[in-house]
Amino acid sequence: MSKSKILIFGGTGYLGTYMVKASVSDGHPTSVYGRPMKSQQDSAKLDLLEEFRSMGVTIFQGELDEHDKLVEVLCQVDIVIVTLAIPQCLEQLKIIRAMKEAGNIKRFIPSEFGNDVDRISPLPPFQACCDKKKEVRRAAEKSGIPYTFVSANTFGAYFVNFLLRPYDEKLQKVTVYGTGEAKFVCNYEKDIAEYTVKVATDPRTANIDELLDIFMVDPPKPGVAAF
Ligand SMILES: NC(=O)c1ccc[n+]([C@@H]2O[C@H](COP(=O)([O-])OP(=O)(O)OC[C@H]3O[C@@H](n4cnc5c(N)ncnc54)[C@H](OP(=O)(O)O)[C@@H]3O)[C@@H](O)[C@H]2O)c1
Repeated sequence: MSKSKILIFGGTGYLGTYMVKASVSDGHPTSVYGRPMKSQQDSAKLDLLEEFRSMGVTIFQGELDEHDKLVEVLCQVDIVIVTLAIPQCLEQLKIIRAMKEAGNIKRFIPSEFGNDVDRISPLPPFQACCDKKKEVRRAAEKSGIPYTFVSANTFGAYFVNFLLRPYDEKLQKVTVYGTGEAKFVCNYEKDIAEYTVKVATDPRTANIDELLDIFMVDPPKPGVAAF
């Protein structure tokens, strides 16, 4: 398979770090667009950026408001993966606007990585979060840029410790969910990142559902990749 130039927004975040590593280990020229550091005191972030550079990752520094800079960076890549956090969800509309102007992006993977938001009816406030992700979906569909929505469901490392050891130290109490026998399925972040990079670079997964039909009896909407 030929390699693609992958740009990751939110690459310094929790899932983003896995995503950057997955992209590099799959041999794709990888870059990260992140906001400039406010202080040189943030040694953990400095170390992470240094680790990225040592892996050959290109770091672009800029704000999401810097439209011209965004367009200039986007013109240099093929694929955009966003792993920004929930509060920055609607900031992705700025990225979509810049991608449309750049006109060269072959695939857009927005920051989703949870439930298939078009198919669930959660309780508020989770609904509010899903509504924002839906708004980004609709903008991606309208943009004309090939897209794939990755529904990763529950992150393994993020939740498993709490679910396996539901011990509240303050209350000195163990909570058992239901009968304690319910089965729980989750996906590990490293796998989610590797799967996402493969989906992002596979021409069969752009806006289509044929591939998903292979895996799912009840496939989601076109362009949605679910675990
Ligand atoms: N399914 C699940 O179980 C599950 C669990 C967790 C998350 N998720 C999903 O995964 C996605 C990523 O979440 P995450 O927890 O990995 O996010 P995160 O760790 O909070 O990452 C945040 C990223 O966004 C950047 N950022 C924060 N504020 C910003 C701003 N104002 N301007 C520009 N960049 C900013 C951060 O950059 P700096 O380094 O500069 O701060 C960082 O790179 C989300 O869509 C979330 O819903 C799913």
